[in-house]
Amino acid sequence: MKHSIVLLPGDGIGPEIVEQARLVLVAIADRFGHEFTFSSHQIGGIAIDETGDPLPQATVDACRSASAILLGAVGGPKWDDPSAKTRPEAGLLRIRKELGLFANLRPIKLFDELADASPLRADIVRGTDILFFRELTGGIYFGESGCSGEGEDETAFQSMTYSRREVKRIVRMAANAARGRSNRLTSVDKANVLEPSRLWRRVAAEVMAEEFPDVNYDVVLVDSMAMHLINRPADFDVVVTGNMFGDILTDEASMLPGSLGMLPSASLGESGPGLYEPIHGSAPDIAGKGIANPLATILAAAMMLRHSLSLNDEADAIEAAVAGVLADGLRTSDLARGDSDSAIGTAAMGAAVVAK
Ligand code: NAI
Ligand code: MG
Repeated sequence: MKHSIVLLPGDGIGPEIVEQARLVLVAIADRFGHEFTFSSHQIGGIAIDETGDPLPQATVDACRSASAILLGAVGGPKWDDPSAKTRPEAGLLRIRKELGLFANLRPIKLFDELADASPLRADIVRGTDILFFRELTGGIYFGESGCSGEGEDETAFQSMTYSRREVKRIVRMAANAARGRSNRLTSVDKANVLEPSRLWRRVAAEVMAEEFPDVNYDVVLVDSMAMHLINRPADFDVVVTGNMFGDILTDEASMLPGSLGMLPSASLGESGPGLYEPIHGSAPDIAGKGIANPLATILAAAMMLRHSLSLNDEADAIEAAVAGVLADGLRTSDLARGDSDSAIGTAAMGAAVVAK
């Protein structure tokens, strides 16, 4: 099968880690007999430097016609000047919008070999393997807002809106993913207080009863969920929630595995290419040193195979190879903790995954 993949390396460590993920994809293509073509385009700070625009039209056009998109990271101190009229992050926000990416997927998987890196006790986090679906283009972050009044009466508001259509499409996507995992879906809301949450809960229950009667489904209030994530994270499988709750819960959950360098994410739309990236930023403090951990980006490439190209065996192969190199004791410096002398670099880690 032929697939065209757009690479958006971006800034800082972006180019270093995306190159390792590309090499892993090349190895997958060889081994499984696929044809992946790659084309690299600019986004973020480098795009501002070269074109004045953090998302040049050529990048948008390339992304639209791609099978899938793999992004490194954008931003860095060079572009942090508050007086600048455009910022690297604007490129990221715009590409998500241009492609209608309404679902943000964040797997939070703890590799057994790294259980000691978690801030929680190993016996609590062991077995954690959650896939969050966060609604990305609706809810309170995009609600009507305003400010009025003066003095002690100065007042601000921001409204939260969800439509039946918006709830349905993300619940469906999450329920489908649950079928490919351990068949459990948890919807998180605040239906005891918020009207949009009551609609969310009603619509989600309808979708599940009508289309996914085989999937085990439950609902949890967002404040309880914040506690459960610390108390019994291994009990959850697929979790679906709105934009703001998802923002907060996924950041909370991202701390469970103990290293940002291991966590991938994906943003998907109804149709068209998905966007895959590590959750960490451009790490300017270590850029150019060849020591960045490429595993989050390599795992993002595995998500791309699974969710955009329907290549599940190939995705499994990458994930197994990552677990394998960790089991062999290989660590980049962010994972090595205290024992950084034995740490390997970005390219060596990528090569180890390819070899596995
Ligand atoms: P960051 O995630 O870039 O770095 C936080 C810390 O984690 C740093 O010490 C860094 O060295 C380390 N780190 C991150 N990824 C690593 C990896 N793969 N291997 C080893 N160590 C790693 O977050 P920070 O420092 O807050 O932001 C730096 C820049 O990245 C800023 O310009 C920010 O705006 C941008 N950023 C971009 C994102 C994106 O493109 N999606 C997301 C978050 C931040
Ligand atoms: Mg956040």
